[in-house]
Amino acid sequence: MAERPYVIDEMISAKSIAARIEALAHEIAGEFAGTDKLVVVGLLRGSFVFIADLVRELDLPVEVDFLEASSYGNAMESSREVRILKDLRGEIEGRDVLVVEDIVDTGHTLAHVMTLLRARRPRRLRSIALLDKPTRREVEIHADWTGFEIPDEFVVGYGIDYAQHNRNLPYIGKVRFV
Ligand code: IMP
Repeated sequence: MAERPYVIDEMISAKSIAARIEALAHEIAGEFAGTDKLVVVGLLRGSFVFIADLVRELDLPVEVDFLEASSYGNAMESSREVRILKDLRGEIEGRDVLVVEDIVDTGHTLAHVMTLLRARRPRRLRSIALLDKPTRREVEIHADWTGFEIPDEFVVGYGIDYAQHNRNLPYIGKVRFV
């Protein structure tokens, strides 16, 4: 997206995000109760704020790792190619793994990453997305936990960027061009 003048309208407050994360962390701790260690995999860069808040609410032994994927549109085939730019540092075979995504939009990124990680034979593989735009979906995929379903709007803040700006906003805002 080329940068045009815009304003940001608050969509989800910092307080609502914090309350939702507390509830989600509780559910996740229940699901993985008794694990020796949960490998929490953040998808860079958009999930870095979410993962930081989520792990601090998780009452489980955790290890944190990161993976960076990039998806490129292919107009000719109306498909997406997902490339891994940075892979995990650790092995996940036989481990409990939670993939943390900022937004599930078309779904290509999460679908690709889950297929890739499943092939490494983790014991349990689950996913969580802070935001979900269900109306944009191109591949059939749902995160196991979702923070908030949102309409088809371009959003920023809480780790999510517009041309590398606005990641440091404490809330989720909607970009409105003026
Ligand atoms: P998907 O492969 O289409 O599901 O793409 C997901 C990725 O696209 C997210 O991890 C974001 O990095 C990016 N993305 C999707 N929607 C937005 C948005 O509204 N604002 C900023 N980035 C977005």
